[in-house]
Amino acid sequence: MKIEVSGKGGSGKSTLSVLLARALKKAGYRVLLVDGDESNIGLEKLTGIGEPVHLLDYLGGKKGFKEKLNQAMLPDNPAGLFAGKQTLDDLPKECIARSDDGLEMLVIGKIHHIGEGCACPMGVLARKFLASLETRDKEIVLVDAEAGVEHFGRGIVGECDLILGIIDPTAESFQLARKMMQMAENGKKAIRFILNKVEPEIETFMKNQLDPAFIAGTVPKDHAIFMQSLEGNPLSQNLSEVDAICRNILTLAP
Ligand SMILES: Nc1ncnc2c1ncn2[C@@H]1O[C@H](COP(=O)(O)OP(=O)(O)OP(=O)(O)O)[C@@H](O)[C@H]1O
Ligand SMILES: [Mg+2]
Repeated sequence: MKIEVSGKGGSGKSTLSVLLARALKKAGYRVLLVDGDESNIGLEKLTGIGEPVHLLDYLGGKKGFKEKLNQAMLPDNPAGLFAGKQTLDDLPKECIARSDDGLEMLVIGKIHHIGEGCACPMGVLARKFLASLETRDKEIVLVDAEAGVEHFGRGIVGECDLILGIIDPTAESFQLARKMMQMAENGKKAIRFILNKVEPEIETFMKNQLDPAFIAGTVPKDHAIFMQSLEGNPLSQNLSEVDAICRNILTLAP
């Protein structure tokens, strides 16, 4: 099952990607966490996993990747780049970092230089990579996306089985959620939302903003999570709310 974690900037996408990945791993799933955010660089700290070689760099950077893509379109190269199907076992070893408990992480690519050009190659690479990747039973790929709906526009969510929208307590987050819901419906994609940073006095208000059928669960505002992010320490929480969300989203596996 491939899941894209989306939402407003700062809503908690990276935090929840890591907490969900750890909870799914603990529940016996093989989990690949994909850093699909070309701008932010914090995921590695939140997992505590060392940084692997970025997939884009492995393919020769933007220039090398573009050349490989052009080559893949030639008629005498029918297999092409990522044209065939691949499994988690087929991914280049250098591009996978592993935690002690076996959680795996892959980074698509990052922006490194002033004036290096747009991030379109990362988008193309993420889409092609996810399109070619086939998950088997008990395998989950979780994509931590950049903020907003850029991944929708680039068609990356189209390659996932489920969109998980993260909503923090702001009107803007709910506005974006409604837009994501509309886009998912038009694209015939399954979508669910997590209400994040929820405090008891606003829980009912937040729940009333959305059709309950689309809410996968709520995660409380947690001071320890906030402090770990401030201090740059790996997230180690085991939250029953996150376990419940995992059970909920697993029922949506294709
Ligand atoms: N449930 C929570 N309780 C307390 N703080 C939280 C919670 N979830 C996230 N945060 C805090 O919110 C901030 C933003 O979280 P995070 O970086 O995960 O968001 P993001 O959506 O990935 O942001 P970006 O759009 O920049 O990628 C961090 O300080 C994080 O610790
Ligand atoms: Mg993030």
